[in-house]
Order: sequence, then structure tokens, then C-alpha cells
Amino acid sequence: MKYRLSILTLIIVCSIRFASQGQSYQNALHHQCLKCHSQQSYSFLNSVTNKEVKRLMNPYYILDTVAMTAGVHKQFDCTDCHSSEYSTYPHQANLKLEPLSTCLDCHGGDEAFASYQFERIDEEFKKSVHYKISGDNFSCTKCHSQHTYKATARNSDNVLEIVDYSNKMCLSCHNDMKKYKLISGHENPKLVQVHEWLPNQDLHFQHVRCIECHTEVTDSLMVSHNILSKDKALRKCVECHSANSRLKASLYKYQNLQKRAGDGAINPVLANESYVIGSHQIPALKLASIVIFVLALAGIMIHGFFRIIKKK
Ligand code: HEC
Ligand code: HEC
Ligand code: HEC
Ligand code: HEC
Ligand code: HEC
Ligand code: HEC
Ligand code: HEC
Repeated sequence: MKYRLSILTLIIVCSIRFASQGQSYQNALHHQCLKCHSQQSYSFLNSVTNKEVKRLMNPYYILDTVAMTAGVHKQFDCTDCHSSEYSTYPHQANLKLEPLSTCLDCHGGDEAFASYQFERIDEEFKKSVHYKISGDNFSCTKCHSQHTYKATARNSDNVLEIVDYSNKMCLSCHNDMKKYKLISGHENPKLVQVHEWLPNQDLHFQHVRCIECHTEVTDSLMVSHNILSKDKALRKCVECHSANSRLKASLYKYQNLQKRAGDGAINPVLANESYVIGSHQIPALKLASIVIFVLALAGIMIHGFFRIIKKK
């Protein structure tokens, strides 16, 4: 009930804004919050000295306006989520204590978003190593910025884009010592060293998502959210490099859906940009390679036979 109400108000707020063409993120220089929050530096009037002061903005508080205008919440304005008291600067200290809505507060139990299965994602997330180790200190927003989130896996028709979008989420923390340490209290292990056993690491990280190896494949969810502990991570090459590649049930299933909805008959794996060695076995080629092998063997035997005869 609480969810319904909050979402209803929001939808009303959104439509009013839309109708009245409220402030746009695209116009960062004219947006009262983004004048400061999209720039490297900001200025304000110091009311004590009565002088204009210029300062550097905390880099973590600089928002990416391009990503925001592409995100799912682009219709929102800042003060739909944040207190309108932020419109004065210096911001009041007690605003730091303002509770912000979580994804589930707005999306939980709402049929309009049922296809995303927010509740199931929440359940899976609660089983993940992140939640087990850090509890509520690790929330959905650690991976999904409410400012910029974009449902890429279900909408993009480009595997490389899906992989890039997803992996950047993990790397934004696992490759950022400060962010990582803030949560764990210790330094982040170097990913390059951790994955030393994997050949062509860069190529792999461009073509498969971290979650391919770090979660179990689930049929019923678009994106599996249960990140397993490191001892359960996938290491076996054949799981992907085989005719029955697990990627068909995870990463490539999205294209699968689109191709089926689009033009019917295209084989999702063959239409895919990644060629995973071993996953495409064409019977005619297999036969041809056996024939070549047998002929080569016969050639060597005949050659050997005549050499032995000549020696005598
Ligand atoms: C004059 C520049 C300026 C303007 C305008 C401005 N901010 Fe800020 N904001 C800052 C700075 C600088 C900080 C860093 C903390 C501080 O100095 O208070 C900040 C911090 C914040 C924070 C983080 C608070 C925390 O510490 O957790 C939020 C959220 C925020 N601003 C939202 C807004 C919103 C929403 C608006 C528009 C209604 C806005 N700001 C307008 C300069 C500005
Ligand atoms: C859909 C809701 C939503 C909207 C719209 C929104 N924010 Fe936020 N914002 C949040 C949440 C949630 C957090 C806290 C993130 C966290 O806990 O990691 C946050 C955090 C921040 C921070 C602190 C730095 C950070 O990224 O954690 C700043 C600054 C900020 N918002 C400014 C803005 C400004 C400026 C706008 C408008 C251009 C805006 N926000 C629009 C939900 C929103
Ligand atoms: C303050 C309430 C609020 C919060 C918090 C919030 N959302 Fe939303 N979200 C909305 C509303 C309202 C829409 C519909 C916006 C529209 O149609 O323009 C939406 C749209 C979406 C959509 C697109 C749905 C569709 O098919 O059009 C996704 C995906 C989404 N949100 C994910 C998230 C995630 C993930 C989080 C947490 C990181 C989150 N939202 C947090 C209110 C919220
Ligand atoms: C460890 C990182 C991580 C955490 C934590 C996380 N997610 Fe995700 N989530 C992802 C990734 C990666 C994707 C795939 C993004 C894409 O390509 O759309 C995703 C996708 C989604 C989607 C889109 C799925 C679809 O059907 O299109 C939703 C909705 C979502 N997450 C909600 C949540 C909610 C709610 C929480 C908190 C309970 C959460 N996520 C926590 C990493 C995370
Ligand atoms: C091909 C499969 C595979 C891919 C892709 C992969 N990993 Fe791993 N990862 C593993 C395996 C297996 C281990 C366990 C290594 C060990 O314990 O020696 C591991 C270990 C880890 C650890 C634990 C480090 C530690 O020692 O504490 C982290 C963190 C991690 N991976 C993050 C990532 C991130 C982030 C990505 C995406 C950029 C990623 N992994 C991509 C298979 C993979
Ligand atoms: C906001 C930061 C953050 C993000 C985003 C994040 N992680 Fe982590 N992750 C951590 C921290 C911190 C730990 C270590 C916790 C500890 O050991 O104290 C961790 C641990 C791990 C581990 C090792 C668990 C173990 O057994 O020790 C794996 C695997 C992992 N993360 C994978 C991922 C993947 C995959 C993603 C993206 C989908 C991701 N992480 C996103 C912060 C993050
Ligand atoms: C999560 C699935 C997955 C796992 C596990 C995996 N790979 Fe890969 N591998 C891929 C994908 C996808 C590519 C990219 C294919 C392409 O487009 O070139 C690739 C590419 C490669 C390439 C480069 C081929 C080229 O075109 O240059 C080699 C070599 C390779 N993998 C070997 C291995 C080995 C050895 C292991 C086990 C230690 C392994 N892979 C584990 C999915 C995987």
C-alpha cells in the first residue's frame, strides 16, 4: 500500500513536470542544481564576506548529465528524490540525514514493473556475498546509480555494449581503491592478478560479463543477482568453449529474445558477434576435417613405405 501511494504521487509529479516542461538535465548550465553538480568547480556568494567564492567540486558529486538523460529516471527532477531544501547553498547539515527511497520502495509490489521481478532480484541479492559480508551497507545503489541506471541487457541488441555496461558497474568499485576500501576496510585485490589463470584477459572481459563466472545461471531472471563467493566462481573453459556453452542460457539469451521477436529464424549464436571457440560445430566441416586427417595420414604412410623400400 505504502509503495502504491508513493509511486502514484511520483507518477503524478512526473506527468505534471513533463506537461509543464520542467527543468531539463540536458540544459545543465541552466539547471539550478547542475550548475554546480555537473561542473569541476562551483561558485557561490559567501554571505559573511559578501564575496563570490570559487571552489573545486568533490569529483564523486559531479553527475554525468549525458548518462542521466539516457537513464530510466530521466523524467524526474532532482527534488523528486532529494529534499527541495537543497535549493539553498550551503546545504543544511541535517540534509545528510535525509532518508532516500530505495528501488524496492518505489518498484516493490507494483504491477507496472512486474516484468523486472524486483522482489525476486532483492531475494537473490540478499543471498550474494556482498550482502552476506557487508549487510545493509551494500545496497542496490552500490551497483545501480538511480541517476543513470539504464536497463541495457533487455534493450540493447549489441553484446559488446551489454558486457561493457555491466562490467563497468563491477569495475567502478573493484578497480577503485577508495570506494572499495570504504566498504571493506581493506585494499582491493588486483583483478589482473586474481584472474592470471585466464588467457587473453582483456578479450574475455570485453566479451563476457563478470556475472557469467560469478553467478549461477538462472532461467527465470533476466539478470542473475546472486554473486557467489570466489571459491564457487567458474574456472572451467569448456563451460563456455563447447557446443553447449553456458553463455547460451545467460549472456546470449537476450539477443535470442530479440531475434525471435524481430526476424524469426536467425540462429542467435551464429548471429552473435563473439565467436566462442568450440561453440559452433558444423557437421560438414567436422567430416571434412576427418577426411583431410585420414588422407594426410595415408600420405605419410605411403611416403614412409617407399622410403623403406628405396633404402633396401
Ligand atoms: C552552489 C553550488 C551548489 C548548488 C546550486 C547545489 N549544490 Fe548540492 N552540493 C554542492 C557541494 C559543494 C556539495 C558538497 C558538500 C557541501 O559542500 O555541502 C553538495 C552536496 C550535495 C549532496 C550530497 C550531500 C551529502 O553530503 O550527502 C546532494 C544530495 C546535493 N548536493 C543535492 C543538490 C540538489 C538536489 C541541488 C539542487 C536543488 C543542489 N545540490 C544544488 C554544491 C551545490
Ligand atoms: C530517482 C531518484 C533520484 C533523482 C531523480 C536524483 N537523485 Fe541524487 N541521489 C539519489 C540517491 C538514492 C542517492 C544516494 C546514492 C547512494 O546511496 O549511493 C543520490 C545521491 C546524490 C548525490 C551524492 C553523490 C552520489 O552520487 O552518491 C548528489 C550530489 C546528488 N544525488 C545530486 C542529484 C542531483 C543534482 C540531481 C538532479 C540533477 C539528482 N541527484 C537526482 C537519488 C536521486
Ligand atoms: C522515487 C521512486 C523511484 C526509485 C527510488 C526508483 N525508481 Fe525506477 N522508476 C520510478 C518511476 C516512477 C519510473 C517510471 C518512469 C517513467 O516512466 O518515465 C521508473 C522507471 C524505472 C525503470 C524502467 C521501467 C520501464 O520499463 O519503463 C527501471 C528499470 C527502473 N526504474 C529501475 C530502478 C532501479 C534499479 C532503482 C534502484 C536503483 C530504481 N528504479 C529506483 C520510480 C523510482
Ligand atoms: C553487484 C552489483 C549489483 C547489485 C548489488 C544489484 N544489481 Fe541489479 N543488476 C546488476 C547488473 C550487472 C545488471 C545488468 C544490467 C543491464 O545490462 O541491464 C542488473 C540488472 C538489474 C535490473 C534489470 C533487469 C532486467 O530485467 O532488465 C533490475 C531491475 C535490477 N538490476 C534491480 C536491482 C535491485 C532492486 C537491486 C537491489 C535489491 C540490485 N539490482 C542490486 C548488478 C547489480
Ligand atoms: C572466466 C571467468 C571469470 C570472469 C569473466 C571473471 N572472473 Fe572473477 N574470478 C574467477 C575465478 C575462477 C576466481 C577465483 C580465483 C581464485 O580464487 O584463485 C575469481 C575471483 C574473483 C575475485 C576474488 C578476488 C579475491 O581473491 O578476493 C573478484 C573480486 C573477482 N573475481 C571479480 C571479478 C570481476 C569484477 C570481473 C569482471 C571484470 C570478473 N571477476 C570476471 C572467474 C572469473
Ligand atoms: C561498491 C563496490 C562494489 C561493487 C559495485 C561490486 N563489488 Fe564485489 N566486492 C566489493 C567488496 C568491498 C568486496 C569484498 C568484501 C570483503 O571481503 O570484505 C567484494 C567482493 C567480491 C567478490 C569476492 C567474494 C569472496 O568470496 O571473497 C566477488 C567475486 C565480487 N565482489 C564480484 C563482483 C561482481 C561480479 C560485481 C559486479 C556485478 C561486483 N562485485 C560489484 C565491492 C563491490
Ligand atoms: C564465461 C565464458 C568463458 C570462459 C569460462 C572461458 N572463455 Fe575463453 N572466451 C570466451 C569468449 C566469449 C571469448 C571471445 C571470443 C571472441 O570473440 O574472440 C573467448 C576467447 C578466448 C580466446 C581467444 C580466442 C581468440 O579469438 O583470440 C582464448 C584463447 C580463450 N578464450 C581460451 C580460454 C581458456 C583457456 C579458458 C579457461 C581457462 C577460457 N577461455 C574460459 C568465453 C569464455
